[in-house]
Amino acid sequence: MRLFIGAAVAAGVMLAGFVAQAEPIKIKFSHVVAENTPKGQMALKFKELAEARLPGKVVVEVFPNSQLFGDGKVLEAMLLGDVQIAAPSLSKFNKYTKKLQVFDLPFLFKDMDAVEKFQNGPKGQELLNSMEKKGLIGLGYLHNGLKQLSASRELRSPVDADGLKFRIQTSDVLAAQFEAVGATPLKKPFSEVFLLLQTKAIDGQENTWSNIYSKKFFEVQDHITASNHGLIDYLVVTSAEFWQGLEDDTRKVLKASMDEAIAHGNKIAAEKVNSDRKRIADSGRSKILDLSAADRAKWVEAMKPVWAKFSDEIGQDLIDAAVASNN
Ligand code: LMR
Repeated sequence: MRLFIGAAVAAGVMLAGFVAQAEPIKIKFSHVVAENTPKGQMALKFKELAEARLPGKVVVEVFPNSQLFGDGKVLEAMLLGDVQIAAPSLSKFNKYTKKLQVFDLPFLFKDMDAVEKFQNGPKGQELLNSMEKKGLIGLGYLHNGLKQLSASRELRSPVDADGLKFRIQTSDVLAAQFEAVGATPLKKPFSEVFLLLQTKAIDGQENTWSNIYSKKFFEVQDHITASNHGLIDYLVVTSAEFWQGLEDDTRKVLKASMDEAIAHGNKIAAEKVNSDRKRIADSGRSKILDLSAADRAKWVEAMKPVWAKFSDEIGQDLIDAAVASNN
């Protein structure tokens, strides 16, 4: 008996030792933008907070600039367990849900307050779980900001875009938006945009001030129209298998760290709208055009018919809720 108790105690000690030395949980966070962007800074903040609060228990590795996975592959890789967190733009979930396309409708949100209101409202919160059956869980929304149009020639009115080739993200709504002004949309990964612009394989693209600045698109585009015609925000996602497999306490700390990291990223996003626009303006490399109300109305008139084409896929209830957030 004594021998048995002794053996059991020894086994217990060994097990405790094993648990204490258990390998930390590795969390790979893969994204496509530069580090000096809202998403880049948010990812680093998440690493800092999560590792400080769960010392030895989790290690967060951040891979910016499409180093690990580009746009097309990251969600597949997540479902295979090769990456645990990503924050693709809301325009890159087409394969998994059609509902998030609501965010791509041109001229839907009048400003970022409206975006915030919709995302935090019941419909926006429902969307976080819209891919759970496909194995993806939304942990929250992260802002980047409203999109601007850039091109090799001045885009003052929609006819100026006629016949030009624009790079777009993998969204059918964005394709329809450019077709509506007679342009040719090309779905290309973010990592290829600079070279495509530089070599003039494409004429233009649409993006936020921070992406246009941090990826130097302004150095290879003579004109930027401050159109604010659409949105680039992100859904921070993880795989259901990974997330649900965590211990409750660990999951709670990671979620709180993510919420704080997102708040940090959102603050940077709000600052960059002005600061990165100013950096571009100061560089003198690209001419920025502010649209008059009359010119802006022409873009709205040309692009807004896209809404009706996608209302069945997206759901009119979602579109109505998004529109209502402007009030
Ligand atoms: C793009 O592909 O233009 C953006 O979604 C990149 C990003 O993640 O901001």
